[in-house]
Amino acid sequence: MMRVCIILVGLLSLLSIEAYDVGLTFLDSAVAQGAVCLDGSAPAYHMDKGFGAGIDNWLVFFEGGGWCNNVTNCLARRDTRLGSSKQMLTTETFSGMFHNKPKYNPDFYDWNRIKVRYCDGASFTGDVEEVDPKTNLHFRGARIFRAVIEDLLAKGMKNAKNAMLAGCSAGGLTSILQCDNFRSLLPSTTKVKCLSDAGFFINAKTVIGTSHIEGFYADVVQTHGSAKVLSPACTSKMSPGLCFFPQNMIQYIETPIFLINAAYDSWQVKNILAPGVADRKGTWRECKLDITKCSSDQLNILQGYRQEFLKALTGFDNSPSRGMFINSCYSHCQTGIQETWLRDDSPLLGNTTIAKAVGDWYYERATFQKIDCPYPCDKTCHNRVFE
Ligand SMILES: *[C@@H]1O[C@H](CO)[C@@H](O)[C@H](O)[C@H]1NC(C)=O
Ligand SMILES: *[C@@H]1O[C@H](CO)[C@@H](O)[C@H](O)[C@H]1NC(C)=O
Repeated sequence: MMRVCIILVGLLSLLSIEAYDVGLTFLDSAVAQGAVCLDGSAPAYHMDKGFGAGIDNWLVFFEGGGWCNNVTNCLARRDTRLGSSKQMLTTETFSGMFHNKPKYNPDFYDWNRIKVRYCDGASFTGDVEEVDPKTNLHFRGARIFRAVIEDLLAKGMKNAKNAMLAGCSAGGLTSILQCDNFRSLLPSTTKVKCLSDAGFFINAKTVIGTSHIEGFYADVVQTHGSAKVLSPACTSKMSPGLCFFPQNMIQYIETPIFLINAAYDSWQVKNILAPGVADRKGTWRECKLDITKCSSDQLNILQGYRQEFLKALTGFDNSPSRGMFINSCYSHCQTGIQETWLRDDSPLLGNTTIAKAVGDWYYERATFQKIDCPYPCDKTCHNRVFE
């Protein structure tokens, strides 16, 4: 009993070192510009100030959480933490890429680190003036993006030496779609780069060969009026809905950018490859929850998905300003938690942790463009198991 207690206390203290809490700042001044969450509430972010040599360095990270594609689905999220700052938890755990200790985060620990809460439902791209009084839904993600950046500029980012736009999942898509816009909002003297964690969503068919994500993204862009912030080089060639896919616009990005993604991204497998509408009988249920439960037929389909993922990456040329860490794990978002960012047992690619690959690329100590061997070759993965 005593020993169990000691082990427990040991584990708890380990956890408390690996992560710490940061409070929530509401951006009330943004409301006057109509830069608001789905329900009309103020946007919000968590900020831990830079210090020492990092005082003029800024990491601006956008949270993810899927998308809402039409009024029905946006209404369903309006009064949740993903649609309203009134529902958000007032503290957030900082860990991994957000950590303030060099041991856990050697290259960014002393930067100003900001995690922006997701509450617009369209990866911070929406801008619709009208508000339907019946639903009171606001589609204003692009205004939130701008208001947050302007607020941070006023708080000192206007003097930034280094700045990085980052995000995971729907926020990882923000850091791709808004990368050049971010660059244009910062002083020309600032070194600006973008980092997308699990934001490279591909336009793939479902397991039964139907088109699902393509129509869903078209609805997101239509509902939120997102076309205006998307790459003009892309929207002059194809529909704005297609320009929401990184594979169709990433070649036009001029700012240095780094992609971290699992080729078998667990969100994509669950929602692009085998969404409920394409798996009525639930054949994929167990496999989606735990990749070790997939049948050999399902694994073959997953290998096909990886091939499509790698094909979608071909527009991403190998200029040294671009980095990629494409591992073969069953995961989704690997920067914001210590175990996948930097720890003794973290995922490796080319014997390199994500923290080191990103730091080397940002500071130009080395380039990093690597694609893992196919599942299950990589023994360093932290494969997700869902309940
Ligand atoms: C909203 O989108 C969902 C998911 O794609 C779909 O099932 C539903 O029919 C749509 N509702 C409306 C009113 O278009
Ligand atoms: C991987 O890196 C570790 C620690 O830096 C080193 O000890 C080891 O020799 C490397 N392994 C290979 C195969 O390069």
